Amino acid sequence: MNMKQAKVGFIGAGSFVSGYHLLTARDSRNMHIQAIADINEETLRVQTAKFHPTYVTTDYQRLLKDPDIDLIIIGTKHDLHAKLIIEALDAGKWVFCEKPMAQDDAEARAVLEACRRNRGRLAIGFNRRFSPAYRELKRLIQSTPKPWFFYYRQMCPYINKADFYYNQAHILYEGSHILDLAHWLMDALPVRLNMTGSLENNCVQMEFEDGSQFMLLCGTLGSYSYWKEQLEFCAENHAINIADMVDMRVRGWPGEFDRLFPPYLNEKKEEVLKYGFDFYDCLRSELVYRNKEFIQKWNIPMEHVRRPATLPPPYDIDEYRKENPELQIFFPDKGWRQSLIHFADCLLNGSEPENASGVDGAVSTEIAMALLDSLQKRQRVIFHSQFLTIAP
Ligand SMILES: NC(=O)c1ccc[n+]([C@@H]2O[C@H](COP(=O)([O-])OP(=O)(O)OC[C@H]3O[C@@H](n4cnc5c(N)ncnc54)[C@H](O)[C@@H]3O)[C@@H](O)[C@H]2O)c1
Repeated sequence: MNMKQAKVGFIGAGSFVSGYHLLTARDSRNMHIQAIADINEETLRVQTAKFHPTYVTTDYQRLLKDPDIDLIIIGTKHDLHAKLIIEALDAGKWVFCEKPMAQDDAEARAVLEACRRNRGRLAIGFNRRFSPAYRELKRLIQSTPKPWFFYYRQMCPYINKADFYYNQAHILYEGSHILDLAHWLMDALPVRLNMTGSLENNCVQMEFEDGSQFMLLCGTLGSYSYWKEQLEFCAENHAINIADMVDMRVRGWPGEFDRLFPPYLNEKKEEVLKYGFDFYDCLRSELVYRNKEFIQKWNIPMEHVRRPATLPPPYDIDEYRKENPELQIFFPDKGWRQSLIHFADCLLNGSEPENASGVDGAVSTEIAMALLDSLQKRQRVIFHSQFLTIAP
């Protein structure tokens, strides 16, 4: 029996989209890759060989005019996001766009107007809402009274001087993921904001009406040999720690256990579940350490993870590597795959998507703008959303 498939057109098929959304669309049962548009012909040649779309083009307008395409996936850099979303919605398509949705409040407003005048749904690629670890966190904390205190570290030390994002407002680009995560976990918007540091490295404080706090340390400091993201949650007699969306420690919920979440695409699932976070952490670092191409591409210094002699890793990494010669690097499960498959499912069965919506995309941009205002004024600012009132 043939399953219904959403016909998908990609606009922009660069490094992120080719490593994630194109793979998901190719390997999922609910999508068919109808077309890929990219201005780079070499990119089109490479992606054709790998993903076998029905056609490729350097003119994205061809996708918007194609009546067979149901869903447009936008993976260009952020400067084209708002414009392409509006054109795709006006062409009657459903749209999945990478973050950030908009570069400022004016763009966000224009996108929301396009959402209002069209029937197609818009999803923004805030995939952490679909990360299995964070979904479990959200489920657990519902039973705990607020105030809730969160501490989040998100450091991307691979952003170097040659990188497009170097010296740009980190909080609007990579940081926007965590602004959206805070909004989604709290189910409320902050009322006061403070940001210190520089454009690149920030300490962010978000205060909520009920006394809850969300602290975010984000930027480009740290070491690639260390895991990139860490979340801590505290409420009265309750605490949760999540390292890199893989290792979850749960305290204060009787009957609940600590948990481990397999990496993206279940790479080394059995071993991660058997040996735990130490295995994941050492192996991830070691694989990057040995991947000369990756190190050269990102220009990152790497080091061996050195464990105390009294605490040897539960495996011999050289032996392990000999047995698994195909091992490259791997990543935690940040929900990329699930968020896209879910959106395509909703398109096919007519249900309401749980993805971050246009309003969520607008809100994360306006929080980022207010934080940049706080940074510039060097003071705490009051936050009122023009796009959404505070959830009750
Ligand atoms: N959700 C996540 O975890 C995550 C991670 C990394 C990047 N991203 C997002 O993915 C997006 C792309 O980032 P990237 O690093 O892959 O960028 P990239 O530069 O590698 O890819 C962008 C592609 O868009 C193409 N393009 C540019 N203008 C175009 C046009 N007019 N028509 C068609 N194609 C066009 C470029 O040729 C390029 O291939 C960004 O928005 C970024 O924020 C998301």
